[in-house]
Amino acid sequence: MKDNIIPHDYQISRQDRRAKNNHNSFLLWFTGLSGSGKSTIANVVEQKLYQQNIKTYTLDGDNIRKGINSDLTFAPEDRTENIRRIAEISNLMVDAGVVTLAAFVSPYKKDRQNIRDIVGNVNFVEIYINTSVEECERRDVKGLYKKARAGEIKNMTGISAPYEAPENPDIEIKTEAVSVEDAANLIIDYILPKLKL
Ligand code: ADX
Repeated sequence: MKDNIIPHDYQISRQDRRAKNNHNSFLLWFTGLSGSGKSTIANVVEQKLYQQNIKTYTLDGDNIRKGINSDLTFAPEDRTENIRRIAEISNLMVDAGVVTLAAFVSPYKKDRQNIRDIVGNVNFVEIYINTSVEECERRDVKGLYKKARAGEIKNMTGISAPYEAPENPDIEIKTEAVSVEDAANLIIDYILPKLKL
């Protein structure tokens, strides 16, 4: 089947779209436990980019899992498929010239490596939002840790499912020591040179 799919050669390229936008496009991937602060920090980063006329879009675990990935559970193989689809979507967004922010638990190293392979090393910035499980559980913004402790949620990352921390992330934010504003500024400082064509 795949053999019969021959991509059409479109005349407007990724480079053309980037040139039109006057900035580069790439993927900012936020990984960390549920409640670690991924979406909160991504949200502030996106606002700062938006203010600088950068074209952005944010993909987020809770909204993607209500839509395109509503058929997937939190079993390991479904998480792998979740991340694979999001990586492919991100690749299209980067192709469209958009600085894409993606906030997903993405607990498995091999799945994060797969994202890097799909979007390409130069287009992938791995941001580890490092918040201890104790702190996430203390915050428990969505009440999920309480439910996991009560046995109402299976496969809860950090409680009954693993989180494989990145060994060499491009950026690591320890949210117990750094404010949201400072974290966002650290990320912006890192990506400013990358935005230049
Ligand atoms: S991932 O592991 O496949 O990357 P994803 O980021 O899409 O997860 O979704 C995580 C979100 O789903 C969490 O922020 C949390 O709100 C919710 N959630 C519900 N059940 C679980 C669970 N068992 N483990 C982790 N997150 C869960």
